[in-house]
Amino acid sequence: MKLKIGIFDSGIGGFTILRSLLETRKDVEVYYLADTKRVPYGNKDIEQIRSIAKEICNWFKDKNVDALLIACNTSNACALDIFEKNLEIPCFDLIHSVSETVTKKYIGVLATHATIKSSYYKRIIESKRKNVKVIQQACPEFVSEIERTNQDLNKLNYLSDLYINPLLKENVEEIILGCSHYPLIYNVLKNKIHSNIRIIDPSVALVNKFNNSFLIPKNDCCNCISQDNIKFFVTAKSEEFSKKVKYWLEINKEIKLV
Ligand code: DGL
Repeated sequence: MKLKIGIFDSGIGGFTILRSLLETRKDVEVYYLADTKRVPYGNKDIEQIRSIAKEICNWFKDKNVDALLIACNTSNACALDIFEKNLEIPCFDLIHSVSETVTKKYIGVLATHATIKSSYYKRIIESKRKNVKVIQQACPEFVSEIERTNQDLNKLNYLSDLYINPLLKENVEEIILGCSHYPLIYNVLKNKIHSNIRIIDPSVALVNKFNNSFLIPKNDCCNCISQDNIKFFVTAKSEEFSKKVKYWLEINKEIKLV
């Protein structure tokens, strides 16, 4: 029997979570919802993000999923309580999951404007460990650039310097990619960050937490993405999203508009 899993993000950022999930197990049926009509979330105010979260909950209620993976840090930071209150299923989130895996004293967080404004990363990590200092950096222009079908590498390099340099000046020892879109440009970011600084993709911690709660059946591990049981839903422009699914995940699938 397959587990029905909901994954939700404003756009393609959740691919990083979907990829980590499908690389570890194949007993899942995934409902991936991308709110392409309203991406990016990171530049919206908190009330808007919370009200969108309520709509997202209603959509998933109808799908009868067994668990939700909140693949959007911005919704996680601004509206986790809404998901937990409105859905009577386990909700796995990036920020709590990754906060248990940091090990150093000076932690940098790159995230959207709304996530940084909420200070949720800072609060959660600093409350879990003594003598740890979280240095936050908002990256307001990253998501729109990453969402583009033809990425502008010069612009991505310029923005990476702009956002990463302030963290390097603070001598951070670990950098959390606190927006699920950012691991999609891991190679650009890696070139800007000294090799002694650990770069953390929170999707790994989230999927580990999920796998520890819903154990992988014996002989069910896999090392390739299985396309058969993934359904993609968008709130606008399904053709454009279909190209992105093909590009980032090498999956050819019909995308449904909701
Ligand atoms: N990928 C999401 C996040 O992790 C949302 C980014 C956005 O829409 O601005 O924050």
